[in-house]
Amino acid sequence: MTVRGSFVVQPANGVRGVVRVPGDKSIAHRYALLAALSPGRSVLRGYAPGADCRATLACIEALGAAVVRAEATVTVIGRGVGRLSSPAGILDALNSGTTTRLLTGVLAGHPFTATITGDDSLRRRPMRRVIVPLTLMGARIGSTNGCLPMTIEGGPLRGIDYHTEVPSAQVKSAILLAGLHASGVTRVTESAPTRNHTEVALSRFGADVTVTGSVVELRGGQTLHAVDLEIPGDLSSAAFWAVAAAAMPGSSVELPQVGLNPTRRVVLDVLQRAGAEIEVDESSSDGGEPVGCVRVRHAGVRPITVSPGDVPGLIDELPALAALATHGGEITVTGAAELRVKESDRISALVAGLRALGADADELPDGFHVNGSRRLAGGVADAVGDHRLAMSFAIAALGARGPSTILGAESVDVSYPGFFGVLSSLTI
Ligand code: S3P
Repeated sequence: MTVRGSFVVQPANGVRGVVRVPGDKSIAHRYALLAALSPGRSVLRGYAPGADCRATLACIEALGAAVVRAEATVTVIGRGVGRLSSPAGILDALNSGTTTRLLTGVLAGHPFTATITGDDSLRRRPMRRVIVPLTLMGARIGSTNGCLPMTIEGGPLRGIDYHTEVPSAQVKSAILLAGLHASGVTRVTESAPTRNHTEVALSRFGADVTVTGSVVELRGGQTLHAVDLEIPGDLSSAAFWAVAAAAMPGSSVELPQVGLNPTRRVVLDVLQRAGAEIEVDESSSDGGEPVGCVRVRHAGVRPITVSPGDVPGLIDELPALAALATHGGEITVTGAAELRVKESDRISALVAGLRALGADADELPDGFHVNGSRRLAGGVADAVGDHRLAMSFAIAALGARGPSTILGAESVDVSYPGFFGVLSSLTI
């Protein structure tokens, strides 16, 4: 039952079924931006339907690319590297950090001034992490205390050799996209490996990108070519069903055609460590992105520890793993202070929401601890407008003694429109 942004989750005995999840959000953003920078017609199949990826399409349209949407297929008529046009108004990234940071890299290389803003959550998120390297490259960027709204005065850029302080695929990507527009070579050295979809996508659109260990390098002035690509299902969305199946006795789910990029699939190893039976059939690769079918079956829930080294590969799945722990498991996460600057402060809002459902959960400065030895009572959990928290609270609530209300349930539209319909169809 949906009542004005809230959703009531009834306790369930388990989940069973096959779910084809929507297209990968991270990959969709990159394909859309690179399609706008490629002259001619790119076709992006299985484009992510959430509000974040719609924001990226609206931004590239405002910058002169033509976009035609037909269900999950998006056709982009791109303009070329450095050939986007000055937007008539302010660019609105809505709730999307990826749109903001990657687009800032693109705009840094264009000879006009553009302003990006976003919703209340996005306007609180730190942007200095992209402002600093892009300014070193030659862009002029004004911000509101390091946050949005941000005005980018792009122009001729020079390549830099940059070591990232925070492991962030968004920062790496912003620099590489700016590097495409810069003179000379741009080199990014990562403090820890992060998702590599930008590197893969750049190659797929025809750029020459070199990866040596933790160093990514590209030469400026390269041209891109339009492509026809299929976007795999989003493993971060599939993770909610994987967790639900891992959590409850008698449960199993099959998740066909999900992305299995090695920089994203750490969650599957951790679920296995937590006791789940996982089967992966890697069937194909489209544009360098491996795709396959994941089957998950409950086989007990064991305590797990997520250490700092695991965090960058698992950052978006940590709230879902916290939900798993409430089903009789236990989790300790450290080295994840980045969670505090996501769509919400995902440490404090996660712990507050799980506690409201009756969980034994505690904040740590850079992580959290959840002990699931006591069954949840059920209650009212506020997702504070954060899509991944809304979905995590729903999965936790399946194991409660009574019904639970998820406030801010409409936020699932950011990455997974239709999430609650699938939840209802899977529960047994
Ligand atoms: C993303 C990278 C991650 C992730 C976000 C999507 C991307 O952020 O949390 O949901 O598509 O590059 P950071 O790279 O800032 O950690």
